[in-house]
Amino acid sequence: MRRLVVVSNRVAGPDCQAAGGLAVCVLDGLRERGGMWFGWNGETVPDASEIGAACSRLENAIFVTVPITEEDYQEYYLGYCNGALWPVLHYRLDLARFTQENGEAYRRVNDRFAETLASLLSPDDVVWVHDYHVIPLASCLRDRGVRNRIGIFLHIPFPPPDVLLAMPDHEWLMNAFARYDLIGFQTKTDQANFCRFACEQMGGEMACDDLLRVAGNTISVSVFPVGIDVESFAEMARRPEAEKRIQWLHRRGEPRVNIIGVDRLDYTKGLPDRLRSFRRLLELYPQNCKAATLMQIAPPTRKEVKAYADIRHELEALSGEINGQFGDFDWTPVRYVHRNVPRDILAALFRGSQIGLVTPLRDGMNLVAKEYVAAQDESNPGVLVLSRFAGAAEYLQEALIVNPYDADDVAQAMQRAIVMPREERIERHAALIAKVREHDARNWMGGFLRALDAPARPLAA
Ligand code: G6P
Repeated sequence: MRRLVVVSNRVAGPDCQAAGGLAVCVLDGLRERGGMWFGWNGETVPDASEIGAACSRLENAIFVTVPITEEDYQEYYLGYCNGALWPVLHYRLDLARFTQENGEAYRRVNDRFAETLASLLSPDDVVWVHDYHVIPLASCLRDRGVRNRIGIFLHIPFPPPDVLLAMPDHEWLMNAFARYDLIGFQTKTDQANFCRFACEQMGGEMACDDLLRVAGNTISVSVFPVGIDVESFAEMARRPEAEKRIQWLHRRGEPRVNIIGVDRLDYTKGLPDRLRSFRRLLELYPQNCKAATLMQIAPPTRKEVKAYADIRHELEALSGEINGQFGDFDWTPVRYVHRNVPRDILAALFRGSQIGLVTPLRDGMNLVAKEYVAAQDESNPGVLVLSRFAGAAEYLQEALIVNPYDADDVAQAMQRAIVMPREERIERHAALIAKVREHDARNWMGGFLRALDAPARPLAA
């Protein structure tokens, strides 16, 4: 088996305790197969002359990380990755900011990554690149004579052509994609959007369903839905400590209905809309007053980007408003937690909540939806209320699928979940957990690597 080289902006190092299921899965794969994980070490240095690679090892896996400069952090990470690419790929042109300096920093950092990585590659390695921070990596490596198989998996959505066209350097970006052997997306919608752009704007053509000829290259373009490690998450939710937390949640005098949301505090997650939907639930179905509580866990993220600071203020004002309007001395309608919560506690909170509220305005997959399903007691499960704009909705159709922009629709779905008979909950959950198991983290990784390992396919004449 050929050595695997993983490249991503963030690297879950050998001693990373807090890694989510996906990072653990990639780590396991690297340990089993042998390989290298390359990326940013999360730190900055004042000057490029101080950038040096650090190396550590865990069994067969080597971790090579590099810092970036303070200027790179501002222009590459905050400016281009999270101020331009992230909003555009999430269909939020209104929040995107484009500057020449940021675009140059993106190219510069990717070029530097490629320079270091090229010297560490063997001709037989297969290279798996992750996400929007490092899209030009294949092109930077190819320019240095690297001929290895290189694939990229985009963890976030890919928008329709009209949205991408608004990005000043869309042509350059798409040509960078065209230098990969394999491009993986979360959903058929993302795959179709990408292929439409390639065919309509770049003169590309589909050789078959998932083989695209564009810019002088032949690229496999496929769908690999990301998943979780179902058993380890379910096991956390069943531990005796979890049971104690659940009993605490349901203690006498506390509300009967726990609704839970867990998301990085990102504008793509639709948190203010979610709170407005919860307010509508209390207005339309007042019997839920003093009976239902929304616990929203929203850890901080990318705080230096203005749009993130704005969404935090909006969310905090709204939760204060709802608590002030509806709350009482013995009932707090919205419990808002703005910090990271350990995964085992989340598993318990999911199991103890009758509704998992996952209502992003746009999301690549959304693994919280899958974790909520995995954590449930299958003999008395809760109900997943899921945005139609989460990638997960393409698969988890037995959830209550909602339009997150429509507060009444979400409120009605919550009410339907609250009164849903146990039999229907069990039936829906059984269908959902089967799909969560079918598309788990191992299958995602196995599927992508099989496609990447496969020799290039001959083309139809
Ligand atoms: C999303 C992206 C990841 C990113 C994560 C956390 O899930 O797809 O690539 O690492 O958000 O964001 P951060 O900016 O902290 O890396």
